[in-house]
Amino acid sequence: MTGSTTDPVMEIRDIRRTYQLSGGLFGKPRNLDALAGVSLDLRRGEVLALVGESGSGKSTLSRILLGLEAPTSGEVLLDGKPVSSIARRKFAARVQPVFQDPYSSLNPRKTVRQLIEMPLVIAGGVRASERLARVRELLDILRMPERMLDAYPSQMSGGQRQRVAIARALISRPEIVICDEPTSALDVSVQAEVLNLLMELRAEFGLTYLFISHDLAVVEYIADRVAVMQEGRIVELDEAERLFAGPAHDYTRRLLASALTVPLAT
Ligand SMILES: Nc1ncnc2c1ncn2[C@@H]1O[C@H](COP(=O)(O)OP(=O)(O)O)[C@@H](O)[C@H]1O
Ligand SMILES: [Mg+2]
Repeated sequence: MTGSTTDPVMEIRDIRRTYQLSGGLFGKPRNLDALAGVSLDLRRGEVLALVGESGSGKSTLSRILLGLEAPTSGEVLLDGKPVSSIARRKFAARVQPVFQDPYSSLNPRKTVRQLIEMPLVIAGGVRASERLARVRELLDILRMPERMLDAYPSQMSGGQRQRVAIARALISRPEIVICDEPTSALDVSVQAEVLNLLMELRAEFGLTYLFISHDLAVVEYIADRVAVMQEGRIVELDEAERLFAGPAHDYTRRLLASALTVPLAT
C-alpha cells in the first residue's frame, strides 16, 4: 500500500457503452452493452487491477478512461473535474497508456528518440534540447543504453519495445498510467523484469496505475486493490489481499479457480 491514499484522482461515474452490431444479412441490428454501468474510484498512488474474462469490457473501459472513445453515458472526473471540460492536450499529459503489444503501438518508421518524445512534441512548449534531455533521463531510468536513441522498433526485443512504450507514457510526467495487459505479449522471462520496472517507476514518479490483466498471479503480485469485471459490470472490488484470501463473489471464485494461482478453500 506504499503511498496509496483514499483520495480519488479519477472518478468513474456510471459509465455505459453500447455498441451497435449489424445483424448479418437478414437479421436486425442489435445492441451490445459492453459496459453496463461502471462506477469506480481510482485512488491516488494505488495500483488498481482490473480483471475479468476476455470480452468483459476491460479494454473498452480503458479506452474511455484514456479519452480515446466516448461513453454512451456516464462521466469521468479527473481531480474532481469532468474530463470533458479538460483540454485534450492537458488531459493527455496527465493520463497515459501502455498497451499490450508494443510492436503495433510503436510506429516502425520512427526512432526510439522520436517515439519517446512524441507526447511532448504534440503537447508543444518544450524545446528540442529539453526533450532530448528527458528522453536520455528516461532511457537511463529504464536501463536502456544511450545508443538505443537511434534504433528502430524492428531492431529491438519485445521487452525493449515495451520499455520504449513505457518511456513514452512517462515523458509528459503523467499522474495516471493505464496499462492494458502490458506484459501479456512478452516472453515469460522478461515479464517480471517489466513488472518490477513499472513498480519502481510508480515509487519514483508517484504514479497511479489502472492495471488490466487476465494473469491473476501478476495481479496478486502488484495490486493494492482488485476490481473484477463480468459482462460489463464490476461484480467485486476489494483490497487485493482480502480478495485473494476469500473472494466474496461466486464469479471471482471461479475466475481464481480457473487460473489455479491460489488454493481455494471450498
Ligand atoms: N468497437 C467495437 N465494436 C463492437 N463491439 C465491440 C467493440 N469493442 C469491443 N466490443 C465488444 O465489447 C465487449 C467487450 O470487449 P473488450 O472491452 O475488448 O473486453 P476485454 O478487454 O475485457 O476482453 C466484447 O463483447 C467485444 O466484442
Ligand atoms: Mg482487452
